[in-house]
Amino acid sequence: QTRRRQRLFELLARAAAFYARVLWESEDATEARRYLAARGLREEVLRSFRVGFAPPAWDRLARAAAAQGFSADELIAAGLCTRSQRGLYDRFRGRITFPICDRRGRVLGFGARRMGTGEGPKYLNSPESELFRKGRVLFGADRARAAAAKRGRVIVVEGYTDVLALHQVGLQETVAVMGTALGEEQFRELERLAPRIVLALDPDRAGLAAMERAGELAERLGLELRVAQLPAGKDPADVVQELGGEAVEQAISSATPLLEYQVSRVLADADLEDPHARDTALEETLRLIAGTDAGIHRQQQLVRRVADELDVPVEWLSARLREHVGGDR
Ligand code: UTP
Ligand code: MN
Ligand code: MN
Ligand code: MN
Ligand code: MN
Repeated sequence: QTRRRQRLFELLARAAAFYARVLWESEDATEARRYLAARGLREEVLRSFRVGFAPPAWDRLARAAAAQGFSADELIAAGLCTRSQRGLYDRFRGRITFPICDRRGRVLGFGARRMGTGEGPKYLNSPESELFRKGRVLFGADRARAAAAKRGRVIVVEGYTDVLALHQVGLQETVAVMGTALGEEQFRELERLAPRIVLALDPDRAGLAAMERAGELAERLGLELRVAQLPAGKDPADVVQELGGEAVEQAISSATPLLEYQVSRVLADADLEDPHARDTALEETLRLIAGTDAGIHRQQQLVRRVADELDVPVEWLSARLREHVGGDR
């Protein structure tokens, strides 16, 4: 059993090396190299993450691995190939490959991005297997470990390219959840990396919902969690590319607890010219502030901010908050 696992790890590591060699050496990968460069990702960070390119042909990897003595069963168990009537074919073709590693740097699987006109999902990932369980791994954990320990903080983003972009601007303590769900198992992994967590998920509906769930989970687990507010419509990689490393650093260093983030979001999203929208925003912020066990001091700070932005008297708003708190009991 352990012997078999070792063989699969060996096969996956060789697959990562194979794809990386294709990316840097093959004519097939000219477009891929251009694509990555256009996204502002530099060779140094790409090499350090062993990013590669899966050639477009049907079975290039399958043949190379067979020539090195790996069996069809092993290729399938590693999630690298699928069987069809015509034989074994590669799962990843014509895509940029991102090896997904465990904390110790062993390759467990891949995320693979299509370029421009490619078909299928934007990212195709390795299937869940005996080695790879997506909900349990944090992409980049192996590369983030030292910086996270040293800085006492880990930054959590959604995607592969977000991790690379942040590394490139010096935020090496970054890992990705590979999508938006952030479950208890991933929290356990985060806890091992650093005591403070900064979430920088995409600022869209899904990302916001995930941050709210994560906030509750962190509270239950007793972890310190903060949330970075990114410019509307931009994920961390977009911010690095369009606004520069300092903009993302700024957003991360001014990350706030979830409650402050939620209140800011409500105020930022409301159309303050519309009296109805203002009322709704006011109710919503009161509900948020009343609903936490944030201390009285923090509550009052928030009330002052809301009163200021909605241009209502602080005393009146404080009275409303007391009603709210009382009413909920
Ligand atoms: P996003 O849709 O935010 O993609 O998904 P991204 O990371 O910004 O990718 P780019 O910048 O367009 O290249 C966040 C993460 O969710 C997972 C991937 O891990 C992705 O990085 N995902 C997304 C998938 O697994 N499959 C998909 O089709 C899309
Ligand atoms: Mn997203
Ligand atoms: Mn994104
Ligand atoms: Mn992106
Ligand atoms: Mn209420």
